[in-house]
Amino acid sequence: MAFWVAHPIVIVMLVFLSNKQNLRVFACDFFQGNWVAQDPSYPLYDPTTCPFIEREFNCQKNGRPDLSYLRYSWHPHGCNLARFDGGDFLERFKGKTIMFVGDSLSRNQWQSLTCLLSAAVPSAKYTVERLDDVSTFTFSDFGVKVMLDRNVFLVDVVMEKIGRVLKLDSIQSGKHWKGIDMLIFNTWHWWNRRGPSQPLFFQYIAISESLHCRWDYIQVGNQTYKDMDRMAAFQKALTTWAGWVDSNIDPARTMVFFQGISPSHYNGTDWNEPQKKSCLGQQQPLLGSTYPGGLPPAVAVLKGVLSKIKKPVTLLDITNLSLLRKDGHPSIYGLGGRTGMDCSHWCLSGVPDTWNQILYNIVLNH
Ligand SMILES: *[C@@H]1O[C@H](CO)[C@@H](O)[C@H](O)[C@H]1NC(C)=O
Ligand SMILES: *[C@@H]1O[C@H](CO)[C@@H](O)[C@H](O)[C@H]1NC(C)=O
Ligand SMILES: *[C@@H]1O[C@H](CO)[C@@H](O)[C@H](O)[C@H]1NC(C)=O
Repeated sequence: MAFWVAHPIVIVMLVFLSNKQNLRVFACDFFQGNWVAQDPSYPLYDPTTCPFIEREFNCQKNGRPDLSYLRYSWHPHGCNLARFDGGDFLERFKGKTIMFVGDSLSRNQWQSLTCLLSAAVPSAKYTVERLDDVSTFTFSDFGVKVMLDRNVFLVDVVMEKIGRVLKLDSIQSGKHWKGIDMLIFNTWHWWNRRGPSQPLFFQYIAISESLHCRWDYIQVGNQTYKDMDRMAAFQKALTTWAGWVDSNIDPARTMVFFQGISPSHYNGTDWNEPQKKSCLGQQQPLLGSTYPGGLPPAVAVLKGVLSKIKKPVTLLDITNLSLLRKDGHPSIYGLGGRTGMDCSHWCLSGVPDTWNQILYNIVLNH
């Protein structure tokens, strides 16, 4: 008898405790923490068994000899991240559509998410289709679509008589983003690109991007420029995007994220190895929580624009944790092979899996 009386109380206490735990997780900053080596539960999927990792991210297949970069897990200071549970993710998004919009760093994260989901539910049927710039990965048993819209500037590039015009205040592509349940935007890497003196990594990224990344003129309102301050252009374009979000997003239907600035590692001075000219040979992250080189200036511009947006947008503030991962890039084990040096994208499995794990944790706490 006493047992039956006590039992409901035990249940109430458990619920109370788990609620408290959730609250604590929610209050925690997922983006402040450090990397821990040799986590036996990593990588979250075996890169050799995810059948659709594109060659440029498939470092193991391209001959990368070291493996320890696969086994680092991210530990926020204030809490534990819930493990990525692909089955639960698919249940939560049943019948829904997720879309990444942006450059090849978006493609990197999109591939990671499709690998995480299919590895978690290996029996789930899927199809992959591509129509122009939009790829759609469908988990048919769940009716979940994970899409990618390749769009490097978010604002428009329009072919006119004078050439290709980058229009900082026009965002026609927004029509593809309506009615999506979760949107994850990103743009930055192409704003920094300069003519013939462009750094190697932009020549490198050019191999993998669509044609929309080239322009001859920049237009703002009725003014046309041959070039302008790139940071100012980036800010204007983001402001146009913010205006699109404010006038088109229904927060009751759609969760909006911004992927944040994904950092590159071409200058060893930034991590106290001034003799290093690339990420080649890096086999370990920085094990502390701060990056000697500081943050890329684009982060402040992005945060400035996000602070003025009226609709809820969550910044996936992945810059700091990714800055620490100088070991996470393909270097010569990417698309260009030994002739390329890719310290901008990330090997899969790898760092974008952590971005997605954090995305999942934010969804859990939403
Ligand atoms: C450019 O736009 C401004 C403000 O919209 C307008 O006052 C101005 O007359 C326009 N200039 C030209 C050359 O069309
Ligand atoms: C690397 O960064 C340092 C410090 O910002 C700078 O002085 C140096 O010119 C950079 N090296 C290259 C090759 O860009
Ligand atoms: C991110 O890194 C910068 C530069 O190392 C540091 O000043 C800042 O406090 C860090 N922010 C977070 C949230 O860790």
